[in-house]
Amino acid sequence: MFQESNYSERPTAAVDLEALLTDDNNLESKFQSYQKLMAYYRCAIMEMTTKFNVLNEEFSLRYDRNPINSIKSRLKHISSIRDKLEKKNLPFTLNAVEDNICDVAGIRVVCSFTDYVYMLANALMKQDDVALVSCKDYIANPKPNGYRSLHLIVTLPIFLAHEKRIMKVEIQLRTIAMDCWASLEHQLRYKKKVIFTQEMADELQKCACLSSELDMRMDALRKCVQLDS
Ligand code: GTP
Ligand code: MG
Repeated sequence: MFQESNYSERPTAAVDLEALLTDDNNLESKFQSYQKLMAYYRCAIMEMTTKFNVLNEEFSLRYDRNPINSIKSRLKHISSIRDKLEKKNLPFTLNAVEDNICDVAGIRVVCSFTDYVYMLANALMKQDDVALVSCKDYIANPKPNGYRSLHLIVTLPIFLAHEKRIMKVEIQLRTIAMDCWASLEHQLRYKKKVIFTQEMADELQKCACLSSELDMRMDALRKCVQLDS
């Protein structure tokens, strides 16, 4: 599961060295290969972040407003990568990571309005170096608990000194209201020693409806403002 708290607006930190210190003959070379792969994912995060910053800049020039409120990113922790591979009954190898884990590099783009979520996703997908792997529209079809966001898994190239590598990135696009609900839901649900009752789940679902209504009303207001200006 994505940890809400893992997302940060600061550059992604280097991998946890301690976690790799296991009894192994090839420890050093394995560690270097792992670090190299993680560096590639960090580069992919940088490239993707720049793409969204460029789109934000262009739209703010054209329409005099910023579609993006914030961009956060995170590199999946080595222990979460290992757990995910274990769940899929796969070995902990670099190939298995690249082929089977789509969310090693994660970007979360928080937009002001719902329309901007789709506008940015469409603009990104028109770029000829970006390819769509999968799309889950939890805005059109929210999860049963009320979770809303647009999830894209895409590939994009990173250009190194002597090679070009195609990397996968998970992008979560959502509004401020969706982000607020998801962050608080995550905090509440994963609080230690708290039993999450059906009543609590129902209440969270109601809050998700309120957040959805807020988005719709804010979108309607935005359209009025646009018509007037
Ligand atoms: P993983 O959760 O990464 O194993 O993959 P998945 O195939 O279930 O992916 P999905 O696209 O449904 O969700 C990926 C990520 O979206 C999660 O790791 C969270 O960051 C976020 N997410 C999905 N569902 C919820 C939810 O109910 N609440 C919150 N707060 N975040 C969610
Ligand atoms: Mg995930």
